[in-house]
Amino acid sequence: MSTIGNPKSRSVFRCTACAESSPKWVGRCPGCQEWNTLVEEAKSAPRARVLAPSSIAVPITDVPTDATHPMSTGVGEVDRVLGGGLVPGSVTLIGGEPGVGKSTLLLQLLAGLAKGGAKCLYVSAEESAQQVRRRAERLDALVPSILLAAETSLPQIMGHIEAVRPAVVVVDSVQAVFDPELSSAAGSVTQVRECAHRLVTIAKERDIAVVLVGHVTKEGALAGPRVLEHVVDTVLAFDGDRHHSLRLLRAVKHRYGSTQELGLFAMGETGLDPVDDPSHMFLADRRAGVAGSVVVPTLEGRRPLLIELQALVSPTSAPQPRRSAQGLDSGRVGMLIAVIAQRLELPMAGFDVFTLAVGGARVPEPAADLGVALAILSSISGVPIPSGVTACGEVGLGGELRSVTGIERRLAEAARLGFDTALVPASTPEFNVGLTVERVSTLLDAVERLDLDPRR
Ligand code: TYD
Ligand code: MG
Repeated sequence: MSTIGNPKSRSVFRCTACAESSPKWVGRCPGCQEWNTLVEEAKSAPRARVLAPSSIAVPITDVPTDATHPMSTGVGEVDRVLGGGLVPGSVTLIGGEPGVGKSTLLLQLLAGLAKGGAKCLYVSAEESAQQVRRRAERLDALVPSILLAAETSLPQIMGHIEAVRPAVVVVDSVQAVFDPELSSAAGSVTQVRECAHRLVTIAKERDIAVVLVGHVTKEGALAGPRVLEHVVDTVLAFDGDRHHSLRLLRAVKHRYGSTQELGLFAMGETGLDPVDDPSHMFLADRRAGVAGSVVVPTLEGRRPLLIELQALVSPTSAPQPRRSAQGLDSGRVGMLIAVIAQRLELPMAGFDVFTLAVGGARVPEPAADLGVALAILSSISGVPIPSGVTACGEVGLGGELRSVTGIERRLAEAARLGFDTALVPASTPEFNVGLTVERVSTLLDAVERLDLDPRR
């Protein structure tokens, strides 16, 4: 971080994207190279005081174990992700793109908590109280013990907390809250950081469970400084495809439990409904016997999900054939096309290749490689992959298949949904999950096993 500047200058310029500082204003951030992201903030005087500690350091073995119990939110999928519910005195940040359903989820969560007897305060910094009430009506969340305050000023929010003395506070959103005492603009790094700090402090002092809503940029980063993620106990990511109803809730950071759980919801007319059998939902519209389709067992944290992958390969005379990958990692799909071209000696230059994960699902994991490659080859050859067959494995640049994590859990889910055969890498350990496991060492072996070789 740069600290050399005019010693007389009282302010510093800080980047709203990466928090890098600069002694003078520049158009482009020296840290992250973004344009027009620097804003002025007051430089705080350096402090180097030594104080008597407020407590003495104790041997780690003498520290009493944590006796705090999470409060169930009444929303099963949220409880699953949090490992039971919200912990009193904890601060949770929930990030997601605008419109994904953060306010909806939090209102449902407060309704669950309020029905369970907890006093809740919903601070709406973006919408009017009327707008929130209207949403609550749709969601069956009109519960008198949810107190509503449309407020953006931090000192006044603190006043509401003082007056209401709630067990749970939701601040929607932290980026819209500002402290008029600070000179920097609302939404700036300084504002967001300071407001979050104050809310964290009050959560700890009063043993209140605080939930902060944070907007996320298109790239998926929480807008504003990453420091926000450090000051809170739990960071949840809420995402989903705008054109589909599916929403996913994951813990990115969780001081009170695992980050391996996944919560699944479907956005409907009356809010978010839990999805109990996601694999079934993803496969509901599947048509058997169509070339270019295969189902792969993916893993989201610890939760297995069966997802249909599709490919369409069509001839083109364009000098630059199209490569499209929806819900898949386009870099990996490009690599798989190159592996097919080289290892199977198939000229791919004359073909457009479209690939997608059905139902708005996102499957970035390499475990889907074999499925993607087989879907492409099934489309080229016109030979459908039998509907009871699933495939799972990472494909290396040599066309070899590499083992993936959690294979047993994945295949157990496939067996549950009626799949009878799974093609997996040769190095996969022995286990019994109720389907036939066929081990193959290379992509070519898998292609031959399924009769997909278009050269024959
Ligand atoms: P919202 O919770 O306002 O999103 P965020 O707070 O993340 O910006 O929800 C946004 C979308 O959800 C909105 O486009 C309408 C839709 N929606 C439903 O489909 N059903 C519902 O019951 C509700 C309340 C919202
Ligand atoms: Mg909102």
